[in-house]
Amino acid sequence: MSLQAGDWVIQNSANSGVGSYLVQLAKLRGFKTVNVVRRESAVASVQAQGGDVVLVDGDDLAERVKAATGGAAINLGVDAVGGKATMRLAACLAESGTVVNYGALSGEPCMVSPRELVFRDVSLKGFWLAKWFRTTPPAKQVALLTELAGLIASGKLSTAIQATYDVARIKEAVAAAAAGERQGKILVEPAQA
Ligand SMILES: NC(=O)c1ccc[n+]([C@@H]2O[C@H](COP(=O)([O-])OP(=O)(O)OC[C@H]3O[C@@H](n4cnc5c(N)ncnc54)[C@H](OP(=O)(O)O)[C@@H]3O)[C@@H](O)[C@H]2O)c1
Repeated sequence: MSLQAGDWVIQNSANSGVGSYLVQLAKLRGFKTVNVVRRESAVASVQAQGGDVVLVDGDDLAERVKAATGGAAINLGVDAVGGKATMRLAACLAESGTVVNYGALSGEPCMVSPRELVFRDVSLKGFWLAKWFRTTPPAKQVALLTELAGLIASGKLSTAIQATYDVARIKEAVAAAAAGERQGKILVEPAQA
């Protein structure tokens, strides 16, 4: 699928590390984003990163997305949650749109209603970075990673850090990383020589 500047993309788990990169990269490419989070307290941080629309997930998501975008056609949905969250994202898409799943944060398999699959021709696909590295020509990988490194070095691409732990406190770091409702990533620093 190729997107043009001005096209809309919808994603859930929008305040995650991956979600925040999607917001920033979409903005740099001129795409508009609808960002779905699971709690009200995560809305402001996604707005601050440049999310065009930020909504809390719920059964009436499709109606709220339609109202917030003026009924814009959305052809791509990016899902990290699975379960019924996949179905709610699919219901927001235009006819023949595609949901790309890359995670199962809910612990549930993706669900999509036959209403979307059969009557509206919506597709569900998966993405796995490890496979992308196996199947993408090295020159293309280098080009993309070089572009991303440049964006990071120039401060145009970043992620929030909640806390940094010395490796001696690894148990606390793992517990903090496993906890929900974080404000960013948990970093572990190597022991000083
Ligand atoms: N397919 C691939 O190649 C690939 C590559 C990298 C990562 N991933 C996957 O991408 C996902 C995000 O990774 P990340 O490192 O960006 O995450 P992260 O920064 O650690 O953030 C975790 C996110 O998950 C949300 N969350 C946790 N439990 C949830 C649930 N039960 N329902 C809905 N949302 C939930 C959190 O919401 P709160 O803030 O509200 O707690 C937060 O937005 C993970 O599933 C990871 O495995 C896949």
